[in-house]
Amino acid sequence: MTKIFAHRGSAGTHPENTMIAFYEAERVEADGIELDVQMTKDGALVVIHDETIDRTTDGTGWVKDFIYKELQQFNAVYKFAEQYDFCRIPLLEEVLQWIEPTELLLNIELKNGLIEYKKLEEKVIDMVRHYHLEHRVVLSSFNHNSMALCHRLAPEIETAILYMKSLCQPWKYMRAIGASGLHPYHGTVTESFVRQAHDHRVAVRPFTINKAGLMKKMFQYQVDAIFTDYPSKAKQLLNNQKT
Ligand code: G3P
Ligand code: MG
Repeated sequence: MTKIFAHRGSAGTHPENTMIAFYEAERVEADGIELDVQMTKDGALVVIHDETIDRTTDGTGWVKDFIYKELQQFNAVYKFAEQYDFCRIPLLEEVLQWIEPTELLLNIELKNGLIEYKKLEEKVIDMVRHYHLEHRVVLSSFNHNSMALCHRLAPEIETAILYMKSLCQPWKYMRAIGASGLHPYHGTVTESFVRQAHDHRVAVRPFTINKAGLMKKMFQYQVDAIFTDYPSKAKQLLNNQKT
């Protein structure tokens, strides 16, 4: 059965990558959440998609140029000001603490495609281990060297590679990295590709699947999971198919 990951929490209906969005994912019974991690100047792991805070908060500047104490003053829900009071950018640690007693799965996307944050991999892995979440977490990144490093550092944690265009010799490439999950742009995914992946014991979890027609297609292909901004809609469709 295809699992539903709430992308950036439930970004279609709630402020992305905030605790509000993560609570919503749990409320609608998503199987898991996906979030993005960047690092501050003083090495704090923060949950935010972009390298800058401009799009999602009332502040401006690069995450890497703030210490966490400074970053805390910006409102991550300012676009939803009529609905929510001030809410800061969450720390990865807060999310792990909250998720630990739940049964939710977690995909931590390391946002190190543009900036190579020093020791990002080690810090994320330490934190996952601290909360004993090794078997509920998938680490992913568009930076495939980073995933190879994660696999070397923590072979017990699943790693997955994100990509936009189809890969050349994907199974050989996966083996070289040590990854066991593929997180492709959905446009590259076909039914026969999913079948081949499963023959190679590789999980396929395409992003970002928001339209009902596309959701149904991915369910029919039997992908392992989808990332969607609308987990409630996806759950409903999936439940309807079961009955
Ligand atoms: O991890 C799936 C998806 O989140 C990758 O793209 O840009 O939404 O982080 P993006
Ligand atoms: Mg992401």
